Amino acid sequence: MRASLVVRGGTVVEAGWSARADVFVAGGVVVALAEPGTPAPSGTVEIDAGGALVMPGGVDPHCHVGFTSGDFTSLDDYARCTTAAVFGGTTTIVDFAIPRPGQRPADVAYAQRAKASQGLCDSALHACVVEWDATVPDQLAALVADGMPTVKMFTTYRGETMANEDTILRTMTVLRDLGGLVVIHCEADHIIGDAQERCAASGRIGAEHMAATRPELAETASVAEVLAIAESLRAPVYFVHQSTAEAVELVAAARRRGVAAFTESVAHHLVLDDGLYGGPVPERFVCCPPLRPRGAVDALARHLFTGEITTIGSDHCCYDVAQKESRRSDVRVMPNGLPGVETRLPVIFSEFVAGRGLPATRFVELTAANPARTNGLYPRKGTLMPGADADIAIWDPSVRWTVTSGDLHMATDYTPYEGMTLTGRPRTVLVGGRVVVHDGMLADAAPRGRHIAAGPVTLTPSLL
Ligand code: URP
Ligand code: ZN
Ligand code: ZN
Ligand code: ZN
Repeated sequence: MRASLVVRGGTVVEAGWSARADVFVAGGVVVALAEPGTPAPSGTVEIDAGGALVMPGGVDPHCHVGFTSGDFTSLDDYARCTTAAVFGGTTTIVDFAIPRPGQRPADVAYAQRAKASQGLCDSALHACVVEWDATVPDQLAALVADGMPTVKMFTTYRGETMANEDTILRTMTVLRDLGGLVVIHCEADHIIGDAQERCAASGRIGAEHMAATRPELAETASVAEVLAIAESLRAPVYFVHQSTAEAVELVAAARRRGVAAFTESVAHHLVLDDGLYGGPVPERFVCCPPLRPRGAVDALARHLFTGEITTIGSDHCCYDVAQKESRRSDVRVMPNGLPGVETRLPVIFSEFVAGRGLPATRFVELTAANPARTNGLYPRKGTLMPGADADIAIWDPSVRWTVTSGDLHMATDYTPYEGMTLTGRPRTVLVGGRVVVHDGMLADAAPRGRHIAAGPVTLTPSLL
């Protein structure tokens, strides 16, 4: 068997199955999954998985790198963000190219794409349309042809990135015909604006009141509207960071009617609740949509088990404590978002696989295979089947460890999970057949990241 490296002695976990197997790698790609003990040519590097799980590296479908919003820019770049990603077992990130007012979506996307080479792992990119003009269809055609078929849109953040319904409808129509996909943040901005105004009038607009300023109804209303647009157009649609069971169920019901509609949830909405806004550091948990009440968090998390949630992202947004504190008295001008690219997989594995019996195969489906599928990256990413890039997370499922920001690699000085004891974490991580993290230490810091040109996204309600 041709090989330069083999990972032996582990249990390979794929989206639909798991089995003891040795993973043979040559030229940066997987060439075979073989019976344990299959001989390798002399000179082959052998990595002993020591009984651990051998999973495709995670694909984070929602990761903001050096993101500017309002007066704030998140603090990482491709080198920092992907270093943190690989320590957390993620080997592909999907970043966003979000135009500032007046910028052309395609210009921003091509500029952001050029940064991929600074990464320790590969990346892909969501473009973003905010405003419609006659040049948008040609820009979208170029972006799809150049491997950027997914386009982020927002129904909130008025004056920044919010798009109106006409723009959403037109963009969705064009992308449907090009093999692209609208990925959308749904929160009805008029409902939020009104809630914020009422909160501000009664002096309740600080970070501790975050939950009241962005009600669950705003999300449900906006999801319903966008689903109606997608259904009438027969266009696919992917909802980012859905934070309530009601929103997930609207999407699942549409899928049963034949709409290619999908739900992403993010780690913090599945684990953390809005009680944190009543704690000593509420600003560290300000994100949109906000954290929800414990009952809502548990109701959302149940949908991981039913199959109704399609992917889990991080919505990584790397602000530090000083940035978060600087505007804590007014959520309307605060930097929104939580750091999470490094903790996404360990937190979800611990909470749901180790803690609540979610099958490891479903974990791989939610965090690697399905993110690759919905982003046109499968089967190059999100699987270890022959032909896939040899991006491999060798995962110790039983090690217990305590999260503390000083031990993490993200460009910030806090983590929303500070002090949590977790079960399971990656031990060794390979990117394109190179060992980048070994026994928890950085083994290869060379930036060899590539922008992965995504294929057309042709989703049906069954996903495949
Ligand atoms: O609060 C969040 N999620 N900030 C990042 C931007 C976005 O809406 O995804
Ligand atoms: Zn968003
Ligand atoms: Zn339900
Ligand atoms: Zn986001």
